[in-house]
Amino acid sequence: MSRWKAPQLIGVAALLVAASAPISANAAPPATPRTTLPAGPANPGFETGDLTGWTVTEGTAFGAGAVSSADTYWGGPFHHKGRHHLWGHAAAGDDATGTLRSSSFAAPSRISFLVGGGWDPEHLYVALVRDSDGKRLLKQTGPEDEAYVRILWDTSPWRGQAVHLEIVDRKSGGWGHLNLDDVRVGDAASRDDNGLTFRTLGQANQPTAERNHAADPLRPQFHYTPYQGWINDPNGVIQWRGRHHLFSQYYPDAPKWGPMHWAHAEGPDAVHWRELPVALTPPPRATPTDNSGVFSGSAVDDDGTLTVAYTKFTDTGAHPGATPETVAVATSTDGVAFTPGTEVITQAPPGSSAGFRDPKLFRDPVDGRWKMVVGSGDGGRGKVQLYASDDLRTWSYAGVLTEGDGTTGAMWECPDLFELDGKWVLLYSTNEGGQSLQRYAVGRYDGSRFTAERHGVLDGGGDVYAAQSYRDDAGRRLMTAWMSDWNVKEPTRVGGWAGAQSLHRELFLTADGRLGQRPVAAADSLATGRPVTVEDRTVRGSWRIGRGDSVRLKAVVDLARTTGDTVTLRLKASAAEATVLRYQRSTGTLTLDTTNAGYGTRATYSTHVEPTADSTLALDIFVDRSSVEVFTGDGAALTARVYPRYRESDAVEFVADGGGRIWLRSAGLTQLGSSVLPD
Ligand code: FRU
Repeated sequence: MSRWKAPQLIGVAALLVAASAPISANAAPPATPRTTLPAGPANPGFETGDLTGWTVTEGTAFGAGAVSSADTYWGGPFHHKGRHHLWGHAAAGDDATGTLRSSSFAAPSRISFLVGGGWDPEHLYVALVRDSDGKRLLKQTGPEDEAYVRILWDTSPWRGQAVHLEIVDRKSGGWGHLNLDDVRVGDAASRDDNGLTFRTLGQANQPTAERNHAADPLRPQFHYTPYQGWINDPNGVIQWRGRHHLFSQYYPDAPKWGPMHWAHAEGPDAVHWRELPVALTPPPRATPTDNSGVFSGSAVDDDGTLTVAYTKFTDTGAHPGATPETVAVATSTDGVAFTPGTEVITQAPPGSSAGFRDPKLFRDPVDGRWKMVVGSGDGGRGKVQLYASDDLRTWSYAGVLTEGDGTTGAMWECPDLFELDGKWVLLYSTNEGGQSLQRYAVGRYDGSRFTAERHGVLDGGGDVYAAQSYRDDAGRRLMTAWMSDWNVKEPTRVGGWAGAQSLHRELFLTADGRLGQRPVAAADSLATGRPVTVEDRTVRGSWRIGRGDSVRLKAVVDLARTTGDTVTLRLKASAAEATVLRYQRSTGTLTLDTTNAGYGTRATYSTHVEPTADSTLALDIFVDRSSVEVFTGDGAALTARVYPRYRESDAVEFVADGGGRIWLRSAGLTQLGSSVLPD
């Protein structure tokens, strides 16, 4: 029975079924193509070390040298499968264009493959093409990263039809190449060789007409994300007429930074968000690469009028001679529609050579006037410029609020100055030797100068940047941040979106004077059921408290009764991968390790956790599909984006290292739901 000939890529499980099932039981065979076609493309993982089975149909992008055995590129490992892969950059760089075609095969029910390289759905993609009419049935572009991400397609509508894969590179210049590896068909498409199931990623399978955040396994459920396109900094955070507003730096047309808009959401509790129309839009592009737009800024209530100040950025490449960064003000009386912006500061003050942007407004209790801090820098030192006004329109320069010493970045972005628990706090974001950092200082402010008494990093994780705060109606100082930064990998690009805002957090000063944070209390309302809880439980070896893609774990570890030096938690865990949180008692170091978390940035992040008087470690952890936010009882936080490969990677486990035991005074795991409010 030749139809049972094992296709080269059929999964082990399917083979077993096929081998053990009596043939007669399969009276209705799968649709048989007119000619017997192979079950998948020849040389599906380029393991011959060359293009055997593949045909260059156009151009030079995919010459013989395109099949590579390189394990790493400039930014880390490729995460390819086997020894070889098709590295679209290897043969002829970014500028070359061309197309490559696989051999023909019978469309299976599913196809998966690893894709890397540039993001450009129009010019750079892998396509499933029907042989009979050349129709492109499905398309997938890259993640704008060399490292691979697995795409899984449902190809059942075309099952049995003769098809082939086509790799199209019609893009020149930066990221003008595509990488491909390990094409898998049938059951093997969704199951890895280790028996785990791949998550279904890929734009081709995403609903586009409706808001369906639940369908994308990497889409956080209770963090604000753009339905489509890119977000970075949170802007204009405020509670206005009782409602919390959250704006975001936003580029709707691609999951990449571009001409900035302000996306806008609002909600009742700083946790749930309803999308509103885009609040501010960039001017029409003067050239195809004109990136002029509405940069970061802030909001205040001006006697009932919602008033925002932002950086009007003009791309001098497209507008030679223009002033690149000025401050503009726009207003809204209904909290939805905004007037066009009016420039209120048209020139940066002297000593702003590194930049002049991200105005943050506040009412200064020292003299009762409106003040504005603006990020800047000069001569290798980041600084903050200060302005004063009585009407938010006419501003006078009030000098340099404070300045770095040259070790904390050359340009301070997104400054924020506010009073907290009797002190003043300055937030600012820096780039230090290629690393993005969210810094803070606690100190004194006299109405014109800030004097730092203590410096710190706001979040010990890798993915908190451009934090912005506001005082809510209850008098709390709430803060949210871009849960990413300028270096992070964004595998979600294959689904057409990138970027998420952190949970809103309440800021406070700790007993020893650090800036502490805890999740906003309303985060409790995300619970979809009662927690699974334990009390006074001993863990030896490992113990799984539960699983789930969007969960909250609260735990209090009794360190006095815990033996061994480390307490380990495996989050988003399966047999193959996990995000590992480890507390080392001897040093007081809490480490978040993403080196085997899946796709995305691999790193270890750490922070110091103060021992408590009663010798406990309190953890409050929010896991949300592709993010982990860890809060400790003493106000420290560790935040990272993680992108698990497998569906099984959703377990939460305690691990007692080295034969010791963990004593859990209490632990509770709660399933959390969506923060999206209907439009
Ligand atoms: C910070 C930042 C800001 C700027 C904005 C542009 O992440 O670089 O300084 O206003 O992003 O999107």
